[in-house]
Amino acid sequence: MKIFIILGTRPEIIKMSPVIRECIKKKLNFSILHTNQHYSENLDKVFFKELNLPQPKYNLNVGSGTHAEQTAKILVGVEKILLKEKADIVLVEGDTNTVLASALAAAKLHIRVGHIEAGLRSYYREMPEEINRILTDHCSDLLFAPTKKARGILLNEGISKKNIFVTGNTVVDAVFQNLKLAEKKSKILEKLHLSKRGYFLMTAHRAENVDNKDRLESILKGVEMVSKRFSLSVIYPIHPRTRKMLKNFKLAIPKSINLIEPLGYLDFLKLENNARLILTDSGGMQEESCIMKVPCVTLRDNTERPESTEVGGNLLSGANSLKILKCVSKMLNKNRKWKNLFGFGKAAEKIIKIVQKNEKR
Ligand code: UD1
Ligand code: UDP
Repeated sequence: MKIFIILGTRPEIIKMSPVIRECIKKKLNFSILHTNQHYSENLDKVFFKELNLPQPKYNLNVGSGTHAEQTAKILVGVEKILLKEKADIVLVEGDTNTVLASALAAAKLHIRVGHIEAGLRSYYREMPEEINRILTDHCSDLLFAPTKKARGILLNEGISKKNIFVTGNTVVDAVFQNLKLAEKKSKILEKLHLSKRGYFLMTAHRAENVDNKDRLESILKGVEMVSKRFSLSVIYPIHPRTRKMLKNFKLAIPKSINLIEPLGYLDFLKLENNARLILTDSGGMQEESCIMKVPCVTLRDNTERPESTEVGGNLLSGANSLKILKCVSKMLNKNRKWKNLFGFGKAAEKIIKIVQKNEKR
């Protein structure tokens, strides 16, 4: 059986890494195709190096563009390669343009598609990722739902139960495989002069937040209020999208927010694990904070990861400054004993077993 793993952005590289490791461990016939939707060294190559991943066999060099441009380039590029490679199954992970375009190209060639992290819904259609999730799920053959809730969502949408498998999320595997190493190897706390639990960690890159001047300004104001109220600094490894938008909007960053370049996975895990609290609009970080038992405030009005809010590890603040402050105050008073519903660190093993068992339709 020939497995084709397609990825293109930072979170896909990280969350696919346990699946790639499992393929190597089992000596399977697999190839990696990188769309290069992400291409900056610190959003791309650094993760291949740190996670010790083999170089992709193909690289589409798609880069940035509008949704249509990016999606179309990936569709055309993936189709050409799949016609040549005759893969038996394509595996994609998550909800980016890379995921939708690759799944669609494969499905139209009657190549089986396995969607890792299937069944997530924010029920907010203006979010480009929501469209990508829904369409990818509905053209996939094997749907790897991270949780029972995700499985229920897929069943309600009419997807046959024989195609849905609850596996846990590979993000848990990635955290378990790398956290000890991160704690041992990373010197990021010393480098940034931080003490354990002595800072807040922030990220924001979601289009609906950072491409909207009012929301971005209000988030920055809210985070500044948090920093002042609790006398702790805020570390913000800034996504290039946000950096670009700050410049376009001519917005200044408040002094209490310490902007740094995006970090490699080991440094970032260490920063997450030792933060007093995380403020973010990232999907992966809502899961990671829940797994590491670091309180999280999500700078969004909705989430496709309700498992993290339901167990008490996460609160949705939206972009309102005062609400951000209120949510942080609440989360700081919580004990950290919530459950992790995202899995036990064996998702990749389960996924590959299922792929092998379901070789034919
Ligand atoms: C994409 C995904 C998003 C995911 C995020 C992970 C879609 C629709 N969005 O958003 O779901 O959460 O990746 O980080 O697929 N840029 C660089 N270097 C890069 C990549 C991007 O400078 O390597 C800048 C460019 O100015 C580009 C902008 O970031 O225009 C946005 O990049 P894009 O790939 O369109 O979306 P992301 O915001 O990265
Ligand atoms: N991450 C990282 N360095 C950073 C910021 C994030 O390694 O500077 C990791 C983080 O640990 C998580 C993933 O990138 O695993 C999340 O990616 P992102 O927030 O870009 O995308 P999303 O999860 O929202 O799709």
